[in-house]
Amino acid sequence: MYVCLCNGVTDNQIKQSIHEGSMTMKALYQDTNLGNQCGKCCQCAKQILNNELLKISETQYQAA
Ligand code: FES
Repeated sequence: MYVCLCNGVTDNQIKQSIHEGSMTMKALYQDTNLGNQCGKCCQCAKQILNNELLKISETQYQAA
């Protein structure tokens, strides 16, 4: 699914970037170029970031 229509960034690209180390919105912006035009995608991208960080933390908690 496209999250950022202005730059053609998908949710899978965002998730991949997060799993490769983009842990902040600033890092996501720099890695994917999302949000640098109209900005309408930022809220959705933030939700994806929060969900993925939560999943990562739960996985690490269960592994410990
Ligand atoms: S939809 Fe992402 S900058 Fe416009």
